Amino acid sequence: MVRETRMDKASLIYPMFVKDGSGIREEIPSMAGQYRYSVDQMFYALEEVSRAGVSSVMLFGIPACKDERASQAYAEDGIIQRALKEAKQRFPDLYYITDVCLCEYTSHGHCGMLCGHEVDNDETLKLLAKTALSHAQAGADMVAPSDMMDGRVAAIREMLDLSGYANTPIMSYAVKYASGFYAPFRDAADSAPAFGDRKSYQMDYHNSREGIREVKLDEEEGADIIMVKPALAYLDMITRVKEETSLPVAAYSVSGEYAMIKAASKEGWIDETQIVCETATAAYRAGAQCYLTYYAKELAGYMEEGRIG
Ligand code: PBG
Repeated sequence: MVRETRMDKASLIYPMFVKDGSGIREEIPSMAGQYRYSVDQMFYALEEVSRAGVSSVMLFGIPACKDERASQAYAEDGIIQRALKEAKQRFPDLYYITDVCLCEYTSHGHCGMLCGHEVDNDETLKLLAKTALSHAQAGADMVAPSDMMDGRVAAIREMLDLSGYANTPIMSYAVKYASGFYAPFRDAADSAPAFGDRKSYQMDYHNSREGIREVKLDEEEGADIIMVKPALAYLDMITRVKEETSLPVAAYSVSGEYAMIKAASKEGWIDETQIVCETATAAYRAGAQCYLTYYAKELAGYMEEGRIG
């Protein structure tokens, strides 16, 4: 009766990897229980998501070929574009969010276009806007830029508005730290940078005021949801962001958080269910209204059982 934090299945978002090819259902070694699916195999996964009572998915694409201009990110027959068209037909009731970034599509693994060894912020904006538009045209319900270039929300908003997608919302990865917690994801998406790191565009984890500046900028540029990422080590940021913005706040419990829980529970050192419930509740208690997690299906079950929520 007096519980302060209430959670709801509708706030869960399940991240999924779709890959070019057919007949593929590969387990990701560093993320036991998570898979890369080709479009023809993705339907079984969507069926499971839907049966678990999770209504939103976040799609990440793994293209067959990568190049310097990330051309598969905005190709009409790119992996995300094809996955969306098919998924929307087969599972029209699910809500489809797409990750908008170039790192999975560039041969060098950086999130933007390069000029020498530097990421060219403004050149990248054009390609990000083009990518977001092609996702919307293929049926994306919401786009989620994760690249951390300056001005990307405005560039995407303008492109969507001019092209008849004024109603497609933007969930901005506004407070995204340069984090060691993304390592399993980079395995999964084969997107580790070939040289250097992402510290020129992702945030230094010593900083919190800078995160608020990012939030304010994204808010002005037209973001609809603000995300904090990772979740577990940044609960303070979820709370601060919640206080500073009236936009909805999402938290992303990333691949490394998932991998740590999986590995320790496999060894029998922690109880998986207990830890999943506790860490998820912490994100909501800190202020998250939406929660992206590879444990979304399990959490929906725990909420249903009344174990949490
Ligand atoms: C793409 C992107 C990343 C993640 C989400 N979008 C990787 C990165 O920035 O290196 C990480 C998600 C996770 O670790 O689960 N830029």
